Order: sequence, then structure tokens, then C-alpha cells
Amino acid sequence: MSSPSPDELSAVAFDGEALTYVDQRLIPHAVERKRARTVDDIEEAIKTLAVRGAPAIGVFGAYGVAMLRDLIDNDEAFAVAARRVRDARPTAVNLAWAVDRVLAAADMRTEAQAIHREQLAMDAAIADAGLELIRKGARVLTHCNTGPIATAGGGTALGIIIAAQRAGKSPHVFVDETRPLLQGARLTYFELAHAGVDATLQVDGAAAIAMQRKKIDLVIVGADRIARNGDTANKIGTYGLAILAAHHGIPFYVAAPRSTFDFTMESGASIHIEERAPSEVTAFGGTTVAPPDAQVYNPAFDVTPGHLITAFVTEYGVIHPPYHETIPALELRPNASAFVTGGPCA
Ligand code: MRU
Repeated sequence: MSSPSPDELSAVAFDGEALTYVDQRLIPHAVERKRARTVDDIEEAIKTLAVRGAPAIGVFGAYGVAMLRDLIDNDEAFAVAARRVRDARPTAVNLAWAVDRVLAAADMRTEAQAIHREQLAMDAAIADAGLELIRKGARVLTHCNTGPIATAGGGTALGIIIAAQRAGKSPHVFVDETRPLLQGARLTYFELAHAGVDATLQVDGAAAIAMQRKKIDLVIVGADRIARNGDTANKIGTYGLAILAAHHGIPFYVAAPRSTFDFTMESGASIHIEERAPSEVTAFGGTTVAPPDAQVYNPAFDVTPGHLITAFVTEYGVIHPPYHETIPALELRPNASAFVTGGPCA
């Protein structure tokens, strides 16, 4: 019997007793559901990228904190546990945003369910809004993974591509493998294949020649944090892609929900960039590929200046420059509950 696809299983759920999640480290070899019952479990799942993708870690953190509130009586101990969840990864704003929202709510479980339900609705709205950007037969380049497993919903950038496929537009997607942890090769290619989208995998360094020779129509990626001027933190390599796209005159789009915009940040200069273990770079598939004493720089994200971004695709539609006007205007839009249509998620 074949394993279920990740979107047959919600990436993240709460079964009333424990958090459950698809362990993204195992894909594409296996689609396995794991349980998290303690703060150690939750923190480890986020730090090791078993649960990853900005919106998915937000939903996971929200359920996690709500669950811990019921398990930890002592207020001080609960505050420490909630802080550990909130700080498990620093760059994606969604995690802190979701945890803070749950902590401020009278009924934490209901709030966590609302955040999850909203994510599903927002992803659907992003897919609708982005459909106009993809013409029939478009050749699309993407980076990292922004599909259903990255959002615990329908996906952001990949959600648009999958919607285009369902709408009969038959896009062809060039998928950057996304070193060092291969989210593109392992997760994006897997999700595209499952959705029946025609795709070609390439090493990250092939992006330039793909733009030069493969008639790429557009680049679309996700985001982890977007400042008021449009500067955008996303998976390492995104900034380089944006420069390449500008050089080749190819539009560069970022798809993200309003919860990924950090309206407190004027620019990307102050975004905290997570740096990860050197072993992610010095080893490949468990084999050491560099001298053991190699000095390593391993930022997990980079910041693409807003001026290199053609437009943002949000649940409120496509947002164009000048971002110092259009992004603050997004802050004034009603909150995500406006998008809720479905029933409870857990
Ligand atoms: O380190 P990761 O795999 O969590 O990084 C994820 C990304 O950079 C994604 O592109 C981003 O979170 C958008 S997910 C819809």
C-alpha cells in the first residue's frame, strides 16, 4: 500500500490529547505522522524542521501553547514553556505572531483552531488572487517549499501553482533543489508530482542559465517575514534569484498571508537571520563532504530588497509598489477571520 500524500494528512493537527504532525524530514521516503506531547517535543520538531514553513510553524506553535496551558498548572513554568515555543525559530514572524495571539486569548484552544482555520481560508484566497499571474503553459521558477505541508493549509506560492494546474493552465515548474536541506527537491517536487504538475528539478546554481535559456516567465516564492517597505526574508538563495530575475527582466512575485507581514519593521535591515549548524553544509546525505575543520557560514534565510519584488500576492489580492504606501494599507484591512468559511480544524 502506498503512503498517504502529505495533503491527505493535514501537516499539523491537534487530536484533543496531543499535537500530531507530518515529519517533513522523512519526505519523500515516507509520509509519517508523529505526536508531540511536551514542550521538548514541540521545540525539537520546530528546530529540526520536522515541522517547517512559516505558516505551518505558526499553526503548530499555536496548538502547542494551547495544549501546554492545559498540561502545566504553574503559571511561571507555563510562561517559560510558551517562550521556548515562541523562540524555537526566530526569522518567520508567523510563529511569534500565532503564539502571542493564543496567549492573549480567553480560550486558547479555540484561538489555535481559529488560526488554523484562517490559514486554510487565506491560502485559498491567495491561490485565487495569484491565478491571474500564471498564463496557460507558463514556465515558473520556484525555491524552497511553499506547499500544503509548509502552511498546514493549501500552500502559498505552490498553492497558486496547484490552483493554476487545476484551472487547466498546465504550468511547468522549475524547482530549485534548495541547499542545504533540499526543501525543493524533497518536498516541492514531491507535492507538485502529487498534484500532477509538470516539474523539472535543478540545482540552485542552475537558476541563472534556466532564466537565460529555458524561457522562464516568472519566479514565485514564499516569505518568512516582510517589512513595511517590502524587504522580504525567505529561504537562503531567494535574494540571488531576485537579482537574476531583475537582470533577465522576469517578474518576481512573493506569495504570503497578511500574518507574514511584520508591520513593526520599517525595513529588512533588522530582521533576525537564523544561522544553522555547520554540519548542514559540511555533510550531504550523512556523508561528510568538506574538511572537518572547515569554517562555515550557514544563514537559513536572506533578505530580498523590496525594489526587486514585482508584487506580493496576499489573501487581499495582489499588492504592487510603492510598498511604503501599499503595505501599511494592508495593515488596516480586517483580520484573517474575515476569510473563515470552514468548520473546526481539530
Ligand atoms: O527553513 P524553512 O524550510 O522553514 O524555510 C521556509 C521558507 O523559507 C519558505 O519559503 C517560507 O517559510 C514560506 S512557507 C509558505
